[in-house]
Amino acid sequence: MRRKLAAGNWKMNGALAALSELDALQEAASGDAEVLICPPATLIASAAAKSGKVAIGGQDCHAAASGAHTGDISAPMLREAGATYVILGHSERRADHGETDAVVAAKTQAAWDARLIAIVCVGETLDDRERGKTLDVIGAQLAGSLPDDVTGANTVVAYEPVWAIGTGKVPTTDQIAEVHNFIRATLIQRFGNEIASAVRLLYGGSVKASNATQIFAVPDVDGALVGGASLKASDFAPIVDALNAA
Ligand code: PGA
Repeated sequence: MRRKLAAGNWKMNGALAALSELDALQEAASGDAEVLICPPATLIASAAAKSGKVAIGGQDCHAAASGAHTGDISAPMLREAGATYVILGHSERRADHGETDAVVAAKTQAAWDARLIAIVCVGETLDDRERGKTLDVIGAQLAGSLPDDVTGANTVVAYEPVWAIGTGKVPTTDQIAEVHNFIRATLIQRFGNEIASAVRLLYGGSVKASNATQIFAVPDVDGALVGGASLKASDFAPIVDALNAA
């Protein structure tokens, strides 16, 4: 069955000294759930060298393997630095860098080509939700952001409502269940039951130790993508523990 995944997204935070957090995560990472930290690109190689039971991932990659793309990083570079995952299509990338679904799909293909597992993010804005468009928006993002060769081994889908990221606002468990159920059904329709049933679905947006147990009890939630509460092992380890206990 699907292996649970607790993924930490450090965003643009963390210096070399922060890698001591990886030591403090080893015990929590000894359970059944997989634990992943995605630090800034500058820390990936150092993190991978001392990551122990924690997997290391990138936060973005370019769609091309190399070339004249100043400032960008390719999927093979992430892989060589020791990453095994990459987050793609995070709402901050979509908003700050104008990433479209087509761009996210091209990056996902590049990640697969470099043997990275893609964590493809989707999620509605508050305006989308208030207009009753949540499922339409997520359906379109899934259709456009996922290439055809999705498998449970190469792709994770993260549902991250934009209005819940870094705000302390969390959807109700019914709202999370509705969207996760919809994502699973959409994947089944496109990829068939066997493949779709193997793809892990993460919830992300203001996950904390205090709400993790409740969120992990929601059907079709296979783990979390955690921002702020992944920066310190003292905050993240209890979330991993809650996932192991779920
Ligand atoms: P947050 O971020 O946990 O700080 O809300 C989640 C994310 O953006 O992945």
